[in-house]
Amino acid sequence: MTDEKLLELFAQMTLEEKIGQLIQLDGGCYGAEELSTGPQQKLGITQDTVDVSGSVLNVLGAEKVREIQNHYLSRSRLKIPLIFMADVIYGYKTVYPIPLALGCTWDPDLIRADYHITAQEASADGCMVTFSPPVDLIRDARWGRCLESPGEDPWLNSQYAKAMVEGFQGNMAPGESMASCVKHFAAYGAVEAGREYNTVDMSERQLRQNYLPAYKAAVDAGCKLAMTSFNTVDGIPATANRWLLHDLLRKEWGFDGVIITDYAAIQELIAHGVAADSRQASQLAMEASVDIDMKTGCYANQLAPLVQDGTLDQSLIDQACLRILRLKNELGLFEDPYRGADAARAAACVEDASHAAAALRTAQEAMVLLKNKNNILPLAKTGQKIALIGPYSDSKDIIGMWAVHADRARAVTLRAAMEIILAAENFGWCVGCPTLDDLSCLGEFGNIPAMKGVSADDKTVAQWEQEALDLAQASDVVVLAMGEHMLQSGEGGSRTDITLPAPQKRLMEKLHQLGKPIVLILFNGRPLVLSDVEPYCDAILEAWFPGTAGGAAIADLLFGNVAPSGHLTTSFPQAVGQLPLYYNHFNTGRPAEGSGHHGRFTSRYMDCPNEPLYPFGFGLGYHSAAYSAVTLSSHTLSAGGSIQASVTIKNTSSIPGTEVVQLYLRDPAASVVRPVKELKGFRRLPLKPGETQTVTFDITEEMLKFYTRTMEYKAEPGTFIVMIGPNSRDVQQAEFTLE
Ligand code: BGC
Ligand code: BGC
Repeated sequence: MTDEKLLELFAQMTLEEKIGQLIQLDGGCYGAEELSTGPQQKLGITQDTVDVSGSVLNVLGAEKVREIQNHYLSRSRLKIPLIFMADVIYGYKTVYPIPLALGCTWDPDLIRADYHITAQEASADGCMVTFSPPVDLIRDARWGRCLESPGEDPWLNSQYAKAMVEGFQGNMAPGESMASCVKHFAAYGAVEAGREYNTVDMSERQLRQNYLPAYKAAVDAGCKLAMTSFNTVDGIPATANRWLLHDLLRKEWGFDGVIITDYAAIQELIAHGVAADSRQASQLAMEASVDIDMKTGCYANQLAPLVQDGTLDQSLIDQACLRILRLKNELGLFEDPYRGADAARAAACVEDASHAAAALRTAQEAMVLLKNKNNILPLAKTGQKIALIGPYSDSKDIIGMWAVHADRARAVTLRAAMEIILAAENFGWCVGCPTLDDLSCLGEFGNIPAMKGVSADDKTVAQWEQEALDLAQASDVVVLAMGEHMLQSGEGGSRTDITLPAPQKRLMEKLHQLGKPIVLILFNGRPLVLSDVEPYCDAILEAWFPGTAGGAAIADLLFGNVAPSGHLTTSFPQAVGQLPLYYNHFNTGRPAEGSGHHGRFTSRYMDCPNEPLYPFGFGLGYHSAAYSAVTLSSHTLSAGGSIQASVTIKNTSSIPGTEVVQLYLRDPAASVVRPVKELKGFRRLPLKPGETQTVTFDITEEMLKFYTRTMEYKAEPGTFIVMIGPNSRDVQQAEFTLE
């Protein structure tokens, strides 16, 4: 409808109806009468509130959505449809690798296309808004939600944020799109000590320089919603932080979309200690410009009295309500309240062969080859016997913890994929050991009841172990499918020990003693500490939680049907005590190398190097490549101009491969300390055997800008260092001057 008509509708709304739009409830509230009692009582809300509520959390399925919408509209005075919002984070029925793995593709265009497919699948099944993308910058692998982030680099995360929003929203055509909700605003990835829901405290410079850019990129890409984070920002929880939400997000960035809280975050303002009760909590959130209260009774029960006694300005409610109505209108809900949701179309859409093919290709690009001693990979398909051992050998729990609406049954296991490639006499497999010694730490999550992992009693464990040792003994190569339990990462998945789980390590040690080559395939949702198992392995392939096509993608890489091309977007620590760990750190006044100080008087640990085990940007292929020195078109860059930096790269092997050529810059003397290097560009470069290619990057003044001493965002004249290489560690460098 026209905005004029929308305003006419708005003018007819009572205060209760306006407040209703600001309330998001879960599916239980809309079901049969007896079903709805529980959730309603828990929130302390009445049927009248349900009848005017504005949106529904995490109900999907075209038929269910139509049914709830119909029932709701039949009771509604003004016939304003509900919005169905859900966590469709990195795939719907077809699941892509977890976002941390998507980051490793260094291929935002590919991810845009994948997310467009996700929008088609999920919108056909009733999803109108997705709570994605999460683009929280991460630096601490203890945090389980590393799984949800593209990585540790602000610029690269921004490229993904943009691509993801564009993929979901497209031109907002019904049946092709969903509105996107960037989260968790802001700086959720910086929770202290990597502990879930913990405090965040940092300088405004750090916030603006590193943590905000990816959210900003999503907003600039036209993202329709933003979700507040659970954490504090400068002592004030994000959900009550008027500076963050109103002054920065709305005024400074010009965001006029809908701000929704994270789950129950308004009520949690009380536990945080900024609100005495839910009345005050509601007032704070409203004044901070939070539009939708997810899953609490706060707005439902408190806003009307706050307005009626004059404490809260009703114009705040009017503005929030209008923002939500405008979103409904943009979604086309007044014309089609189901937005094209159609069970038959949804079912057909998921069966589209191009979707499975996309998931396969992306999983192949997302996996990172970390080690390949004596080029043991790729494996020959014939002439040897291969043993597949480990709890992930035949597991479908490879879709990652946040694929809550996924069809887990569609996942292709590694065993199934290897059985297609290998003749029966060349292949054997067994579980070998449980995932964890004790599953009790995991708790439940969402609707993933089946995910119990592999566990066993002592007798069975001993039998499994013997079976694995016998199989390995009778084989030429051992492929280990191991990793974290799927519930050890994701929300609520913080850990202090991020090594491979103990029973899997014990089995690996025993297998190692047999002297057979070991290829480790890792399934995990965060960077792991691999220092203790790395020496046992001839090859390590980081498969992450690779999604629906996971097993097939791994098998393609293992046997060389496709070459690995993924590169890490997070540093892999040598020890958990190094955390937080990130490549774009400061130099300090006493760097470990070259400070002029010696012995113990430099910035380092006594018991561990400063360096990661595998650096940001790292990843091997099956080929090898040689990089030339960096050449510059000029050693002087004038303001507003550009210079070119080039390297020539040769594939020095007889195997095709893809290089991810990375450009880093450093400002060695500025008004504030700048990082030792910052990623400013990259190129995916396929190279045929023996082929040589020159890659040229433009360097512009824009790339040199930062928040100066006076918090202006600009470049300062002086010397700069440009570095180019296949990862953040192994770079060649040159210097130029900005005039
Ligand atoms: C998570 C969000 C999610 C929301 C709704 C919260 O617990 O932090 O990422 O979107 O639940 O399911
Ligand atoms: C220490 C100071 C000390 C100074 C003089 C420095 O290395 O950090 O605490 O006062 O040496 O001995």
